[in-house]
Amino acid sequence: MKKVLVTGSNGLLGQKLTERILLKKDFKLIATSKGNNRFTETKGYTYAEMDIADEESVNRVIAEFKPDVVINTAAMTNVDTCEIEKELCWKLNVTAVEYLIKACEKYQIQLIHLSTDFIFDGEHGPYLEDAKPNPVSYYGESKLAAEKLLIKSNIHYTILRTIIVYGIVNDMSRSNIVLWAKGALEKGNPINVVDDQWRMPTLAEDLAEVCLLAAEKGAKGIFNASGKDMMSIVELVQHVADYYQLDKLLINPISTASLNQTAKRPKRTGFILDKSIKELGYQPHSFTEGIAMMDKQIKSR
Ligand SMILES: NC(=O)c1ccc[n+]([C@@H]2O[C@H](COP(=O)([O-])OP(=O)(O)OC[C@H]3O[C@@H](n4cnc5c(N)ncnc54)[C@H](OP(=O)(O)O)[C@@H]3O)[C@@H](O)[C@H]2O)c1
Repeated sequence: MKKVLVTGSNGLLGQKLTERILLKKDFKLIATSKGNNRFTETKGYTYAEMDIADEESVNRVIAEFKPDVVINTAAMTNVDTCEIEKELCWKLNVTAVEYLIKACEKYQIQLIHLSTDFIFDGEHGPYLEDAKPNPVSYYGESKLAAEKLLIKSNIHYTILRTIIVYGIVNDMSRSNIVLWAKGALEKGNPINVVDDQWRMPTLAEDLAEVCLLAAEKGAKGIFNASGKDMMSIVELVQHVADYYQLDKLLINPISTASLNQTAKRPKRTGFILDKSIKELGYQPHSFTEGIAMMDKQIKSR
């Protein structure tokens, strides 16, 4: 039985991981996040408060539980906020990873770390694992710096890179594009959506599953871990409208330049998934299947 400690367990991926680990007999879970536990089920695992940006907190919790694997989902994930609050972004996305690496080295723990397509400039997507990074935002820079720390460390590390994660969990601190589009279109609100950025959106359940595959197999190195369908952001939103039979005329395609966002975005990312499919047995759902799964969960709430 593997003892797995999840950081950021209150987040989208964190809660999906908790849910899935509880269904597996070969894992024992220690869920950790900042503040109180927001996952609805409280039995069958241990919850401990752990602030990844506080070295003392990281050391204390890891020393107490001595897990076999740490899955680091906690991060500062809002790209525009990272551009403005650079110091905090670095603290959470880089310095905190340094603390985790040190603790994992001490107890010989596998560290599974989540990274992003935003380490690339979006000029040559879809990308292979060994493509040359060139971030265009501070968020991307911070995530790349964390990857470099892992690569030069002596620990057993696994980097899983993902793209636009969507899904629904309890008491979410931030929304995602699928929920946002559904909500706005259901209210009849017109929305501006960029038509010149392409992504491969990832179902949160698929991402949780690939984290567990990486833990089960003791995978080493970098793996692409996104959804399998490439689409522009406006196509993504149109798919959501189609699924829910909402008015597509409310969707107004615009250019990235006209949006004037604080942080720059890569144009076309996307990943070639062959390595994670072959080596980890990763089997992502299609985007349509993903929306259907999410919809079922929304209806059963
Ligand atoms: N979401 C995406 O589209 C996307 C795309 C590419 C890569 N990724 C990467 O995937 C990972 C998981 O993303 P996600 O969507 O699950 O993010 P999320 O929903 O924002 O979850 C992150 C969680 O970390 C928690 N957290 C923040 N600061 C913390 C701290 N100091 N100590 C402990 N926990 C802390 C947050 O707590 P609160 O909820 O209390 O704030 C939040 O629950 C991240 O590494 C992200 O960079 C995500």
